Amino acid sequence: MKTKHFPEGFLWGGATAANQLEGAYNEGGKGLSIFDMVSFVPKEERGHDIEMDVKSDQELEELLAKKDEGNFPKRRGIDFYHRYKEDIALFAEMGFKTFRMSISWPRIFPNGDEREPNEEGLAFYDRVFDELAKYGIEPLVTLSHYEIPLHLVQKYNGWTDRRLVDFFVHYAETVFNRYKGKVNYWLTFNEINISTFSAYIGSGILVDRVEHKEQAVYQALHHQFVASARAVKACHEIIPGAMIGCMLARMEVYPETCSPDDVLAALEEDQKNLFFTDVQVRGYYPSFMRAYFKENNINIEMLPGDEEVLLNHTVDFLSFSYYMSMVASGSPEKIKEKGNFFTGIKNPFLETSDWGWQIDPKGLRVTLKKMYDRYQVPLFIVENGLGAYDKVEEDGSINDDYRIDYLRAHIEQMSEAIKEGVDLIGYTSWGCIDLISAGTSEMSKRYGFIYVDQDDYGNGTLERRKKKSFDWYKNVIASNGEVL
Ligand code: BG6
Repeated sequence: MKTKHFPEGFLWGGATAANQLEGAYNEGGKGLSIFDMVSFVPKEERGHDIEMDVKSDQELEELLAKKDEGNFPKRRGIDFYHRYKEDIALFAEMGFKTFRMSISWPRIFPNGDEREPNEEGLAFYDRVFDELAKYGIEPLVTLSHYEIPLHLVQKYNGWTDRRLVDFFVHYAETVFNRYKGKVNYWLTFNEINISTFSAYIGSGILVDRVEHKEQAVYQALHHQFVASARAVKACHEIIPGAMIGCMLARMEVYPETCSPDDVLAALEEDQKNLFFTDVQVRGYYPSFMRAYFKENNINIEMLPGDEEVLLNHTVDFLSFSYYMSMVASGSPEKIKEKGNFFTGIKNPFLETSDWGWQIDPKGLRVTLKKMYDRYQVPLFIVENGLGAYDKVEEDGSINDDYRIDYLRAHIEQMSEAIKEGVDLIGYTSWGCIDLISAGTSEMSKRYGFIYVDQDDYGNGTLERRKKKSFDWYKNVIASNGEVL
């Protein structure tokens, strides 16, 4: 298959997050983060497919009392903290133009509310950025990827408290000042819409402490919108020429049938998903959301100046994750299927992954076209990929043809979308090196081109090994998407 549509300078690469990768959770002066408290639950015992919520002070106290006992995979990650040189050399070998990573907020501000940053944390990322620079790889850095300092949860109940806006902006300004000249692409909040699925992971909220959960979540989100816009402003002032974007867990929603009820249900689901980018790209709350707040007794407290900040400091580009599409029905009693954070009706035309996620490459093209029509700003796919069980053969090879097929099909659709006029500037496939799953804390749910020898319980040598997809992706990049 040959395609010729990717523009020169297209940013090919891979994506990760500190909490799933670094490990060393208590080294270098790092404070605890929300995900350090999420333990592994074996599949048979899992109530849901996603296990990542802490809901009350009592639960948190019990987890803290456990100290290092128990299985907390995100605390160990894949030890990137000590092995980043080896890993970056492998990314360079694949020809990465960019590497998406996050800065762990509690590595820089262990409690989140201090004035003085932790120099050891800052120095670590200096080393990582310098290593990337050695190979000409542009870092794409997420400021907040589910790494809220735990202290901010305990003391302030997370983003429900307006003071977090200032703490976050101070953190953002600190890293912009430190890394100007080294980092030119930034993202504010990873999957900013996650809070409506997990208030704890998205906003650091212990839901037992609030009376009206939805009210608390949307208020917390308002604080994040303001913090994000102020970070955009600071980024433009401190690093002229840098680009800073928002990040959405995109969910393309199809109606189950052409019944107007189903079409309306799908439209409303879609609006709820695009609300977040409406605020961050257009700079104001859409009227459908104001109507929704009114109907559901949600009152967003906005301070004077908030609306102005949102309007004047919109993002330079829109980034998003795309793993699947969903189906909506006008009949609420229909059985729902799972997705990462979403549920919908099973689409009979699509296959599913080992984790039940509906694989839909063409949906990526649909979504690219729809979002570009709506916003007219550059788009960046910063997550996409297949979580699968991989097998190491006796000769040591890992033949992940299923992953190649998945990625090829998605990249083909990206190429078509570009041909059809979409301004797509980059693609970083998720988990370019195997890492800990966000949703299930599994190591065995693998996305990488690089295999990491570790199991769900932390057994293994951590040795890195190239999968078949490694050379395939290397060719994709070398040919700028022409050879798939
Ligand atoms: C996205 C997150 O939702 O999906 C990543 O931004 C995450 O952090 C990815 O890892 C895949 O989800 P999971 O649960 O398979 O790790």
